[in-house]
Amino acid sequence: MDNNLIYNKKGLLDNINLIIDENVPLISNLSNISRLIFETMDGTSWCGFYLADEDTDTLYLGPYQGPIACTRIPFGKGVCGQAFNKMTTELVPNVHEYPGHIACSDLTNSEIVVPLAYNNKCLGVLDLDSTKFANFSKEDAVLLEDACKIIVKLFK
Ligand code: SME
Repeated sequence: MDNNLIYNKKGLLDNINLIIDENVPLISNLSNISRLIFETMDGTSWCGFYLADEDTDTLYLGPYQGPIACTRIPFGKGVCGQAFNKMTTELVPNVHEYPGHIACSDLTNSEIVVPLAYNNKCLGVLDLDSTKFANFSKEDAVLLEDACKIIVKLFK
């Protein structure tokens, strides 16, 4: 079904809009989007969503591509919890130098986490890992932030 998609950064936002199906639950769209971003962002070893659970003050694992990952991350903990609390993108060229980084995989060396923010409220995060150091750039951060602006509209 994705035969017509060309996976490149230039086309990422158009591709997200193309694959979104307004008639299915959020989890279905996030699943396809996690695959699309995984394929698009070179050097990505893990790509997925953590979603906010206000009852437990944690982020829980959502749809993703990659190895098995941590299922819950307390707000404020790790790169994900920090990006969530601060509602800003965390671009981490070397995870071993990031205080409190949560290592779901020993092979991860760099990471980027983008908040899913809507109306000044954070609903979760988009997390990408790489086995390469400094795999993600500031341009990637802007692109993924633009992607998240589209993705948050799916949360209703
Ligand atoms: N490294 C993240 C945890 C999630 S995994 O990378 C999939 C963190 O420090 O929050």
